[in-house]
Amino acid sequence: MRPSVSDFPRAVRIEVCNFCNARCIMCPISSMQRKPRIMELELFEKIVSELEQQRYDGWVYPYLNGEALLVPNFPDYLRLIRSKAPRAKIVLFSNGSKLTERLARILLEGDLLDLLRISFDGGTKEAYESVRRNLSFDEVRKNVHNFIELRDRLGKDIPEVTITMVVSPRNRDTIGALEDEFRDADDVAVHGLTNWAGQWEMGETKQDPTLRHKLVTALTRTNYCNELYRPITILVNGDVPLCCVDYEGKELLGNVRRNTIAEVWHGERYNKTRDALQNWDFSALPLCSRCTNVRVSLITKNPVVQGLKRCVSFYAQKHPRFAAKSDAISKKIYYYRISKRG
Ligand SMILES: C[S@@+](CC[C@H](N)C(=O)[O-])C[C@H]1O[C@@H](n2cnc3c(N)ncnc32)[C@H](O)[C@@H]1O
Ligand code: SF4
Repeated sequence: MRPSVSDFPRAVRIEVCNFCNARCIMCPISSMQRKPRIMELELFEKIVSELEQQRYDGWVYPYLNGEALLVPNFPDYLRLIRSKAPRAKIVLFSNGSKLTERLARILLEGDLLDLLRISFDGGTKEAYESVRRNLSFDEVRKNVHNFIELRDRLGKDIPEVTITMVVSPRNRDTIGALEDEFRDADDVAVHGLTNWAGQWEMGETKQDPTLRHKLVTALTRTNYCNELYRPITILVNGDVPLCCVDYEGKELLGNVRRNTIAEVWHGERYNKTRDALQNWDFSALPLCSRCTNVRVSLITKNPVVQGLKRCVSFYAQKHPRFAAKSDAISKKIYYYRISKRG
């Protein structure tokens, strides 16, 4: 039996634009086949109006693939969320390159963000610029420090500012330097590479899908993927893909231009996909069958830890709210492990 589905997704990811000024080596943005564009404000308004009707108090992520701060009137999108869904929490992931003092003031004075996560893949200029191609270590670093300084000067509690590094062989020796650099931030976290469900592989994300498939099958139902139960992902044209790693929208579950979010969320295609995942029917899930995110759960081989994970996973499947928490905890453990791996 599959876990119960909440009435409405607890997180809504909205791809406000799908282009970027950077060319980070682990990101598929440079190979994306979809045309670069900005989500029409009209479609965005439709989405946010539904959040208003729902009296939404979950999470809104107004970005996905690409850099949202490149959208010239991006603050207008955020204001719409604030005015229609004032209890929602707004989280933005950004590369920080366009976070000028002018934009920082607009975001801060309007209280437009609850959490700002800056992706910063290297504690040194050399490591950073070898991963975050087209971006300048000095410029982004300055933008982030200025933003935090301005937030504190204005006496604002929000947004929380965190720094996130995707660890790869190019930067793993610079985690300490990153922590030293951003002592003013609220948190510095590291996480592992994903292979974008086999669509964008590099270095350590490369693996034999057959071996992987066997491993995953061997550990049937010990892993819990939250993607079909907590967030919904909306692409720039309103399409709803399988999850956040389906960056081309290959496995579409609906479209919120034609339907409401709630209709898509409870639609036949969503439920069939949930069933397939629950049964580990990878023939119906070509992307899931190659997704390294599941590998996160396979890392710890210690039988006691595996036993514990099975219990957590079993409980999480019955209680989606707990699932969200356990997901966050296992990610923290993963961050810790990967940072110690050096
Ligand atoms: C796709 S970006 C979009 C938002 C924004 N442009 C940024 O860089 O934060 C969102 C996050 O995905 C991360 N990311 C990109 N490629 C990744 C990969 N192969 N594995 C893990 N995380 C990745 C980025 O570092 C960033 O933190
Ligand atoms: S800044 Fe973000 S969207 Fe742009 S290339 Fe890097 S990871 Fe991808």
